[in-house]
Amino acid sequence: MVKHDIKDINLAKRGKLRIEWAAQEMPVLRSIAERFGKEKPLKGLKISACLHVTTETANLMETLKGGGADVFLCASNPLSTQDDVASSLVKFSNVPVFAIKGEDNRTYYRHINYALSIKPHITMDDGADLVSTLHRTKKELVGNLLGGTEETTTGVIRLRAMAEKGILKYPIIAVNDAYTKYLFDNRYGTGQSTIDGIMRATNRLIAGSVLVVSGYGWCGKGISMRARGMGARVVVTEVNPLRALEATMDGFELMPIREASRIGNIFVTSTGDVNVISSDCFALMKDGAILCNSGHFNVEISIDTLRKMSIRRRIIRDFVEEYTLKNKKRIYLLGEGRLINLAAAEGHPSAVMDMSFANQALCVEYISKNYKKLENSVYSVPENIDRKIAVLKLKAMGINIDTLSKEQKRYLESWELGT
Ligand SMILES: NC(=O)c1ccc[n+]([C@@H]2O[C@H](COP(=O)([O-])OP(=O)(O)OC[C@H]3O[C@@H](n4cnc5c(N)ncnc54)[C@H](O)[C@@H]3O)[C@@H](O)[C@H]2O)c1
Repeated sequence: MVKHDIKDINLAKRGKLRIEWAAQEMPVLRSIAERFGKEKPLKGLKISACLHVTTETANLMETLKGGGADVFLCASNPLSTQDDVASSLVKFSNVPVFAIKGEDNRTYYRHINYALSIKPHITMDDGADLVSTLHRTKKELVGNLLGGTEETTTGVIRLRAMAEKGILKYPIIAVNDAYTKYLFDNRYGTGQSTIDGIMRATNRLIAGSVLVVSGYGWCGKGISMRARGMGARVVVTEVNPLRALEATMDGFELMPIREASRIGNIFVTSTGDVNVISSDCFALMKDGAILCNSGHFNVEISIDTLRKMSIRRRIIRDFVEEYTLKNKKRIYLLGEGRLINLAAAEGHPSAVMDMSFANQALCVEYISKNYKKLENSVYSVPENIDRKIAVLKLKAMGINIDTLSKEQKRYLESWELGT
């Protein structure tokens, strides 16, 4: 049995300091960790977690362990692991980690299998690769499982598809769909960290550039908003008329991707969809166009097609690959088309992951107490958990708000009172 598989154990000290730095911005998770430490609500539970191995994830792993759980951790993307964090978790927190930044696909799935070797009671997934691996190749583990959680939009879509087909073998809570998750993590987290990733990878000036955002969902809204704040001329592409209308009234230019391809300097996909930018777009692009993705999988830009259309490829700087097309124009792909905010930067700021991971911790506790009532379906995060996290976050931020008077409560609940 492999105890862990990480890049270099000697990176542990650096990782520990960075984990501490993140913890300062995670007061909600900290308050849960303090309670878990005393009450040990997860005693005896085994958890297989497949998450981006970041400083914030390390704080979550320590919280779960402090609550009495045994945790095995693998990466939810081959390029999102912070090797120093993986090393610190192994050395100082006694959490077996199976993740190396830049691992190939075979290693990625081998690591998922190691994480499952704990024979989990609970799975914690980001993108549903762990859950789908379990359903495909390790069905014998199902009997042991109480439930699972899912962190991201794409994972929730996949799991709902499994549930609809009657394939899902245990209950999953869609952490992504909590207000205290997607309104903040997907919007402000992806917004800021995607721009950060583009800047770290390219050091290009955002101001004055034409930045094309594909998908005006929660991530796309955040990216568009932050790019505009940096002085970009933001163009949005959408397929959903409601979201397109919303983007228009938020003040962004809307057009089809083919049209946008002619004018864009920087392209960011955040749709969760496949082949959003493909051959017809590449052919129209300007020399020097920069392409990246912030959606969960590296399928949004047709990389294979780009390869086939190119006469030359070279890595020109870290996370920047230059493709020269037959028409001599150069296109730059960032971070192999994988989540740019995690590939070239550090992922979301800790202050938003505080709420996402508070949801994860409380949902795991909820499953441990309520699993008998749950069916093989995808559940929303219980409303009281969502509200509790919002209350704790506001408190940690030193923000007081009003409460309803008895009269207001009665009025808001009645239908009799009118003009
Ligand atoms: N980078 C990160 O750290 C991070 C964080 C959260 C979520 N995600 C991922 O980002 C992706 C988007 O998440 P979201 O929460 O914004 O989802 P969402 O469902 O709110 O938004 C996706 C939007 O893309 C649009 N879309 C779909 N196909 C399109 C196409 N071909 N062209 C243009 N628009 C198209 C949809 O109409 C929708 O409005 C998912 O894959 C999610 O898992 C990434």
